Amino acid sequence: MSEILVKEVQQKFIKTFNLEPLLIFSPGRINIIGEHTDYNGGFVFPAAVDKGIAAGIQKSDTGSCTAIAMDLDSTIHFELDKIKPSKEGSWENYVFGVVAEIQNRNKVIGDFNIIFKGNIPGGAGMSSSAALENSVVFGLNKLFDLGLTKHEMILISQKAEHNYVGVNCGIMDQYASMFGIKDHALHLDCRTVESKPYKIDFKEHQLMLINTNVKHSLSDSAYNDRRSACESISELLGIKALRDATEEDLETIIDKVTPSNYQKALYVIQENARTIKAAKAIENNDLELLGSLIYQSHAGLSDQYKVSCDELDFLVTQAKKNKYVLGARMMGGGFGGCTINLIAKTEAKAFAETVATAYKSKFDKECSVYFIELSQGTHLVK
Ligand code: GLA
Repeated sequence: MSEILVKEVQQKFIKTFNLEPLLIFSPGRINIIGEHTDYNGGFVFPAAVDKGIAAGIQKSDTGSCTAIAMDLDSTIHFELDKIKPSKEGSWENYVFGVVAEIQNRNKVIGDFNIIFKGNIPGGAGMSSSAALENSVVFGLNKLFDLGLTKHEMILISQKAEHNYVGVNCGIMDQYASMFGIKDHALHLDCRTVESKPYKIDFKEHQLMLINTNVKHSLSDSAYNDRRSACESISELLGIKALRDATEEDLETIIDKVTPSNYQKALYVIQENARTIKAAKAIENNDLELLGSLIYQSHAGLSDQYKVSCDELDFLVTQAKKNKYVLGARMMGGGFGGCTINLIAKTEAKAFAETVATAYKSKFDKECSVYFIELSQGTHLVK
């Protein structure tokens, strides 16, 4: 958690509303492996990180609500009985979406003021959106004593994303952000929405993120298109989700699907299997195997699922040239954002420098390197 961030939000809240707020920190996430498997009922392997959103929230007695996004220097006023989606791509949809979904469950909230600020760059593929949604639902749950469980809260966050932001996302991001455990990654079964925590201590190795600084936009119909393609193939197979299919099952309908959708479904089936293998590799301390699964994941995301981009592919190619990087792949929805790299601790800085130079000369723009810590999920600070 970033204490400075929380302090800044607290000070701004007191200055603006003359009241001490409830303070919440809600983290972003990484994902070791298991990409685009969540909405297929499969496995993922995320962890909450020490970067995220700090929010301050308190009741309002002015007859309306105010929300302030400090990073954007943007303020909105709204009334609880007039909530509707704002224009596409605007930050207030994350707040409105959560409020609307709480109200849809017949839970009663009163007027409130909220201020938030984050330190995850938007579009980095680290789920600043889930962090924000979770901070709002968590704050409102506390403030108005709604009695929501964490599982209910993440479903509200997810629905907000579907109905107000327009991304038909899975449950990985909201789950990881809410349920994160310090120093652990969560091997999450997205069908049962239950996870097994794995203590992550890679000894001489560590995880490192490199941001292409290419902003992805998931509401870009590309994400929703892939989800629909997976669902229509499941329907053809007569199963609930691709998690239930084998490669052999898929073969039986090869004539009924386009070659590109065939590859997408094949990717999902293979990625799900890789995610299960990755958990075993971690149990056995087999980092070579984990690394190679990570590289395979990237190849699948790029060649079969088609959610990578030149900048991400370039970073992974650079990683492959370095024998100290055991694995690297794009992380999150794709089309930009970060790669996650499993690298020898002693070589991380040197690799970061080499890659930064190569990236700059290839694309004439900067990439950014993040060293992250695995952290606690959404929680009350004070
Ligand atoms: C985004 C979505 C998640 C998940 C990933 C891809 O982050 O919000 O639900 O589908 O993409 O794994």
